[in-house]
Amino acid sequence: MDQLNIILPDDWHLHLRDNESLATTVPAATRGFGRGIVMPNLNPPVTTVAAAKAYYDRIISYRPEGSDWEPLMVLYLTDNTTTDEIRAAAESGFIHGCKYYPAGATTNSDSGVTDLANIYDVLETMQEVGMTLQLHGEVTDCDIDIFDREAVFIERYLKQMVKSFPNLRVILEHITTQQAVDFVIAGNENIAATITPQHLLYNRNHMLVGGIRPHLFCLPVLKRDIHQKALIEAAVSGNKKFFLGTDSAPHTKESKESCCGCAGCFSHPAAVELYAEVFDQAGALDNFEAFASINGADFYGLPYNKTKITLNKESWTIPESLPFGDSKIVPLAAGNNIKWKLEN
Ligand code: DOR
Ligand code: ZN
Repeated sequence: MDQLNIILPDDWHLHLRDNESLATTVPAATRGFGRGIVMPNLNPPVTTVAAAKAYYDRIISYRPEGSDWEPLMVLYLTDNTTTDEIRAAAESGFIHGCKYYPAGATTNSDSGVTDLANIYDVLETMQEVGMTLQLHGEVTDCDIDIFDREAVFIERYLKQMVKSFPNLRVILEHITTQQAVDFVIAGNENIAATITPQHLLYNRNHMLVGGIRPHLFCLPVLKRDIHQKALIEAAVSGNKKFFLGTDSAPHTKESKESCCGCAGCFSHPAAVELYAEVFDQAGALDNFEAFASINGADFYGLPYNKTKITLNKESWTIPESLPFGDSKIVPLAAGNNIKWKLEN
């Protein structure tokens, strides 16, 4: 197959940051996508409907001329989120989920939830009004090994949470393990997961063998190859519970190439093509449209995008770096040759 025509995909998990960063991140997010679920981990985080509306307006002001890419906004849950705010979010029409970050789990998560028990009333209201919960599914206890944090979160908290709230719509974001795949498959129809390109393309050997590659460091961290294989199998299977979420997360080159480097991979410059490569290598291009353009919209109860995109089998090289304000940013798979190319 040399050409692929599919419904315009959506990105169900991404980071844009704020203000002048939006000049780079918003146009990048629109490339090959119709909509994007915008993570609220700004500093300070987006915790209210009013803050989400103001952020929405700032994002739209950087949308390229003629683009109708749509940012889908998300509230950041804290120990102090009120059920009134959840009801207002559900009525807003532009807020499509609430994000649970365990406090301290990742970039700008210090205001996250310190104990799931603190938000049980909020989860009950979300279940009642049909608001989706997006989970950063990792424990943060310092005695739990970083490679086990997702699996332990599922065992310790998630299994009980989905029993307590069987009608709550839950997305386990950026899954990284066989355990997460198994949990999602075994769950009811209200449980789904997003999968990033980096977790499909790489395992921890790629990040650590022969020297540390800081541009592959993200959270949850890359795991061993058996987990990578389980994620590929889930993504290409066509199962409706798995869909595209890049977790594209911009950090400057120097903040990644540092003695304490930031977590996050900026995948937007080649995101659709990187996913296409995974499906191609697995011999599953027939299921690419479901993963990229259909399953997520169905889960969120949104219509499919009306336009289509074309990908051609045409070799190109992902840039080594791109300008990012006064600095530079290194995209995921920088310098790599890639076989698929999005037609403009
Ligand atoms: O690698 C990551 N980067 N994981 C996250 O959960 C957050 C993200 C970011 O905001 O940079
Ligand atoms: Zn993220």
